[in-house]
Amino acid sequence: SISSRIGPSILNSNLACLGSECRRMLDSGADYLHLDVMDGHFVPNITFGHPVVQCIRDTIGKTPTCEVHMMVSRPEQWVKAMAEAGANIYTFHIEASDNPQQLIKEIREEGMKAGCAVKPATPVKQLLDLLHTQMADVALVMTVEPGFGGQSFMQNMMDKVRQLRKSFPSLDIGVDGGVGPSTIQYCADAGANMIVSGSAIMKSNDPAKVITELRSVVQE
Ligand code: DX5
Ligand code: ZN
Repeated sequence: SISSRIGPSILNSNLACLGSECRRMLDSGADYLHLDVMDGHFVPNITFGHPVVQCIRDTIGKTPTCEVHMMVSRPEQWVKAMAEAGANIYTFHIEASDNPQQLIKEIREEGMKAGCAVKPATPVKQLLDLLHTQMADVALVMTVEPGFGGQSFMQNMMDKVRQLRKSFPSLDIGVDGGVGPSTIQYCADAGANMIVSGSAIMKSNDPAKVITELRSVVQE
């Protein structure tokens, strides 16, 4: 069976103290870090790029797994830079690539795992068809419209997770957006095993407790 992992998103953390916030999440039991990269074009918001990822890597050490969630228009452009900056999983949006099969290969050639994300309006068939032609390492189902943390969980996205899990029993399937103690059960029931959670963890005064709670539900 596949392992379940909790990956806090630091988008809604105090970005002026990003390094210590990442450290705090890892000390609170996070299995990996989910770093939201936004270019202000693919989504109507801007966060940070590979120079910041490099500094985070320098701060947290070599071993913690970092997923960069590339909400950018030209994901092909940043693969090498992110690999050099220390990203381990490069998750791009299939809506932003006209050759996702090739991009998956390039990501792997740079030594990273390849993740494929879909926005709420993108039919899961597009991702299923891609994975049948070119397998990826992670499928990320957005459960909010990408661009901001703190939005409400879109429960109707669970059908996508169920279909992905049915087609690919051993694939790492992530959910991202509005995931927390009040919505984790839906994600677990649908078959998600990589749990991204931002506000629910960052806003808590006991992040370790939230991470433990999320993990206990999804590992059932
Ligand atoms: C949204 C990001 C998500 C978001 C999750 O575009 O991709 O990772 O930060 O934050 P919450 O859990 O607060 O929705
Ligand atoms: Zn994200």
